[in-house]
Amino acid sequence: NMSLGKRALIKGLLYGAAVNKDSLSANPQLVASVAKECAIIVSEWELKWNFLRPTSTSFDFMPADWLADFARTHGLLFRGHTLVWHEAMPKWFLKTINSKNAKQLLLEHITTVVKHYAGNIHSWDVVNEAINLQDRRSDGLRKTPWLQFIGRDYIEIAFRAAAEADPKAMLVYNDYGLEYDTPEHEAKRKAVLNLLKNLKSKGTPIHALGIQSHLSGNETRFNSQKFQKFLSEIANLDLKILITEIDVKDKNLPVDLKVRDRIVAATYEDYLSVVLDEPAVIAVLTWGLSDRYTWLSEYQPRRDGAKVRPLPLDANFKRKLAWNAIARAFDNA
Ligand code: G3I
Repeated sequence: NMSLGKRALIKGLLYGAAVNKDSLSANPQLVASVAKECAIIVSEWELKWNFLRPTSTSFDFMPADWLADFARTHGLLFRGHTLVWHEAMPKWFLKTINSKNAKQLLLEHITTVVKHYAGNIHSWDVVNEAINLQDRRSDGLRKTPWLQFIGRDYIEIAFRAAAEADPKAMLVYNDYGLEYDTPEHEAKRKAVLNLLKNLKSKGTPIHALGIQSHLSGNETRFNSQKFQKFLSEIANLDLKILITEIDVKDKNLPVDLKVRDRIVAATYEDYLSVVLDEPAVIAVLTWGLSDRYTWLSEYQPRRDGAKVRPLPLDANFKRKLAWNAIARAFDNA
């Protein structure tokens, strides 16, 4: 019964999970499970602007520092999520930002936050979800206030500021919707590759791609060859790859626990066995650890009222088939 973290470490990989201060402070069993299973944690909420920036002129590091201390106390690495995102922004933001102050606002935020954790952070999701093909721009970039008020260079600017504030942190571009053999995912893989190529060609300090990997348990449109090819194209840009937010949605799976857990587990194993074949992959983080605390219970509840089961441990912190599947994927890596 060696933990996921130890199994991964044996293969030179990191395993960890997203956590937040609220659930860790409320539940000692969660604390014990995270300490046991993980080698790295990522902050689910506390490093987003809506937590860090109560006003345009102040920073509140208390909740995020609590997590950084938690990581240090338990000998875990700590990942930063996320410096630039169009969601989870404080109310004052849209009222304040304009074309005169946008660049200054971005630079001040990144410099202050990244310096605060310099030396104590494994990696930063510097920019999150900057591509949205539905916005129908030729460069694929999402229409955000940063794009509107700074222009397409905002991504490069963000990475350069992060590198200057902490030359040792691994700097990551993180995105979702890249996994499947659908026209949408195919186009998004292409757009992400183009963005990364472009950043690299300008000498931007970027070190890795984060592939969120919010998978679906009933999705048959996974093509391992095509996905493997995408991973090797990323690796050929001299970038590492992190699986940053993996979980498996069971919203539309049969309610029967044996059937449901088996499909969720198989989805983890099929995906991770392909991913872990690529030597550029260095880390796998699940988006949560126990089914007791998952964003999916709020965002994608089941219609029959049954509790969702997307993570390695059940709501009572017992290892599930999904745990076995992840363990096997590490063992076979
Ligand atoms: O602030 C309250 C908190 O005090 C309370 O304990 C909690 C109880 O549910 O509610 C809190 O508000 C929550 C908020 O995060 C904290 O800012 C909301 O309910 C919750 O809906 C909100 O959602 C988070 C979301 O990002 C927006 O920040 C999710 O938990 C989090 O899992 C989700 O994570 C994103 C990644 O950052 C990017 N990739 C997709 C992923 C899933 O959507």
